[in-house]
Amino acid sequence: MTIMAASSREGKTLRDVVFAAGAAAREAAQYGEDKVINATVGCYAGEDEKLACLPVVEQLYRSLPMSDFITYAPPMGLEGYRKAVIDETFESCRPDGYVDAVATSGGTGAIHIAIANYSEVGDTVLTTDWRWNIYDCLCQEIGRNLHTFSMMDDQGHFNTVAFSAAVSNILSRQDSLLIILNTPANNPTGFALSDAEWADVLEICRLHEKNGKRISILVDIAYIAYAGEKNRVRSFMTQFAGLPEHIFTMFAFSMSKGYTLYGQRAGALVGLSSSKAVIEEFANLGKYSARTSWSNINRAAMTLLTRIRSDRDLMAQLDLERLAFAKNLRCRADIFTYEADRCGLSYVPYKGGFFISIPTQKSATVCQALEDDLVFAAPLAQGVRLGVCSIPAIKMQGLATIVKNALDRVEGRTDLLVSGK
Ligand SMILES: Cc1ncc(COP(=O)(O)O)c(C=O)c1O
Repeated sequence: MTIMAASSREGKTLRDVVFAAGAAAREAAQYGEDKVINATVGCYAGEDEKLACLPVVEQLYRSLPMSDFITYAPPMGLEGYRKAVIDETFESCRPDGYVDAVATSGGTGAIHIAIANYSEVGDTVLTTDWRWNIYDCLCQEIGRNLHTFSMMDDQGHFNTVAFSAAVSNILSRQDSLLIILNTPANNPTGFALSDAEWADVLEICRLHEKNGKRISILVDIAYIAYAGEKNRVRSFMTQFAGLPEHIFTMFAFSMSKGYTLYGQRAGALVGLSSSKAVIEEFANLGKYSARTSWSNINRAAMTLLTRIRSDRDLMAQLDLERLAFAKNLRCRADIFTYEADRCGLSYVPYKGGFFISIPTQKSATVCQALEDDLVFAAPLAQGVRLGVCSIPAIKMQGLATIVKNALDRVEGRTDLLVSGK
């Protein structure tokens, strides 16, 4: 029933299951923080379980003059920032082509602009079934539908067959299509497409382009800073060189994870094309969207990134500090996957990043069962998400067994394992 809001806004409520589970975890702290595992958090915490800031970022950010925090920035973003973001997006794997970047309010803003400018109202946007659930809201908010395909095949590889079928199906009804792929270090699974799988994706897009269709691919690289060696995890990007002008690639870049500046709301949408006209159009549209959505973004965050990337020593420090975070993530994930393999718990192939996911059709009930053991996790449509990013190594020990037990209880198995805690 509409009271004051426009009728078109009726029923718009954000169901944030992750936030709700996080609130339950905070409440459970009364039983002793050492007993509670809060796997709902999507931010990196150190082994002390405290939200961590990369030291080089903290030091430099605190040293910036007040004018950097209070002065307006251009809607497109500071020139130096846009250049530095392009450098960071590609590192040594920059494909030939025309490139530009628009500063956005985090990676979320980048995804919003991409949807607004590269899909028609009423159109279907395509992504993987294992996905960040905010994609659904970002599409719905501006009148698009999100359709998903099965991300993995039975062998745990990218499901090229399902992808191809979904693209063909949608393009039998639409002249153009926006595809969102969150890789490497996919949220919620840690999955990544291999270079060969990317080659298949592009081949499929090329076939449709030859039939007169226009395809935009948005690669969401929110977690790329912790996905592995920086040029190895970007090697797939070189394949975007020389694509036909009706296949347009974009990258949603975020400072939230890579610079631990989650609340400072800085990111960028980077566009790459073999056509100069496509990139000019991209910049014009991006500027318009930025000005009408958030006007301009956090100038201090932009200055920080520009300063770090233009200073060899600061860059080396950032690389080392990110590596230390990534090593911790790897160590935590290794403990979990080793134990999961031993107790027969299935998980989505993890290649790196903040999250590991356990497939189940009963994720809400499994998460409830986990709460009996004071483990709090995010129930998603495809399974249970565990934030490796915020669980210290010591608490990873035994977690796989706890999850396996909860799953077995919910699925009615009798061969229960002994608690791993
Ligand atoms: C997959 C994915 N993409 C993009 C983002 C955007 O983050 P932000 O808007 O904070 O940069 C997130 C944040 O959680 C995410 O999980």
